[in-house]
Amino acid sequence: MIDCFSGPTMSDSLIVDASPNNIQRAAEHLRSGELVGIPTETVYGLAVDARNPDAVAKIFSAKGRPATNPLIVHVSDADAIRHWVEGRDEPWLLRAFNQAASFWPGPLTVVIPRIPGIPNAVTAGQDTVAIRVPSHPVTRLILQECGFPLAAPSANVSNYVSPTTARHVADGLGDQVAMVVDGGHCDVGLESTIIRLEESRPRLLRPGSVSAGALREAFGDLAVEVSGPTETTTAMPAPGMLPKHYSPQKTLRFATQFTAVEGQRVGYIAFGKPMMSAHRVWVLSDDGDLDEVARKLFAAIREADESDCDVLIVDKCDQTGVGAAIMDRLRRAVTP
Ligand code: TXA
Ligand code: MG
Repeated sequence: MIDCFSGPTMSDSLIVDASPNNIQRAAEHLRSGELVGIPTETVYGLAVDARNPDAVAKIFSAKGRPATNPLIVHVSDADAIRHWVEGRDEPWLLRAFNQAASFWPGPLTVVIPRIPGIPNAVTAGQDTVAIRVPSHPVTRLILQECGFPLAAPSANVSNYVSPTTARHVADGLGDQVAMVVDGGHCDVGLESTIIRLEESRPRLLRPGSVSAGALREAFGDLAVEVSGPTETTTAMPAPGMLPKHYSPQKTLRFATQFTAVEGQRVGYIAFGKPMMSAHRVWVLSDDGDLDEVARKLFAAIREADESDCDVLIVDKCDQTGVGAAIMDRLRRAVTP
């Protein structure tokens, strides 16, 4: 590490603004099988051409991701997928698909029977595929310019915290991507809600900002099958939902379950008014607004992880609305 170096770093030149020219360049990189960091409303994605198995393979090696963990396919609108669903002649599936598509563009991922043209590498050999229509305007432009679907996991090294700024992507994967298109700070800040469409009712595989309540209202019913952090994961419905995930390097504990040791520098991520003093405190929302907490949480964990603190502590919240997703991520992030 060169401490005195204050000029632009290599990764600075990787981050480009979303000018029409850069959108075009991003599409060219993607067309030629390269990796591009893209902004979405949830977290930044590490995108490749979903039809190209060689390009898809690069994602797994760049992230250090197990090949058994399938990727989400991002498309510019629901129509192409709907056309295929219609062709399957399963009325329940079309009905459920249309219901799910009413949340698009937006932070909902839908697992449906596998569609043709998507290679095994994307689905990890499963007979289903995860689809999402993102709402971030920059990524919508990139998808339109490409004219093909993009496979994109969160743009972090496997098991680390998901990125919510272009800088986070460049910091973690700068030497792996052709460019990172800057779309500002992600609005939602947590990965999309994932549901699998099933004949009786959809099944929640990963909580997100589209809440269980909103899904229940839309579909009439919802099965909830999110594996807890202490459960074994032999038959994982969403293989990425590992007990330990999203973890910082430093020890992270819930503030309510923590007693400081003399001389320890504690970094405290508070959701509202801090309950205690600490060496450093990050207040995510003055009035404890959970949407704001979600938006800022991952950036705060990263910043705290890079700070001079010895140990990190974080608040808990009610598991209603987006609170369920916040607590889901934190239970996987805290040190066992
Ligand atoms: O918000 C998001 O979903 C972000 C942005 C970039 O779109 N992407 C994201 O991707 O979080 P990733 O790869 O970090 O998480 C995708 C999750 C994993 O848990 C994976 O196991 C699950 O989706 N998944 C993908 N395909 C699946 C399938 N066919 N069946 C069940 N789960 C699937
Ligand atoms: Mg991820």
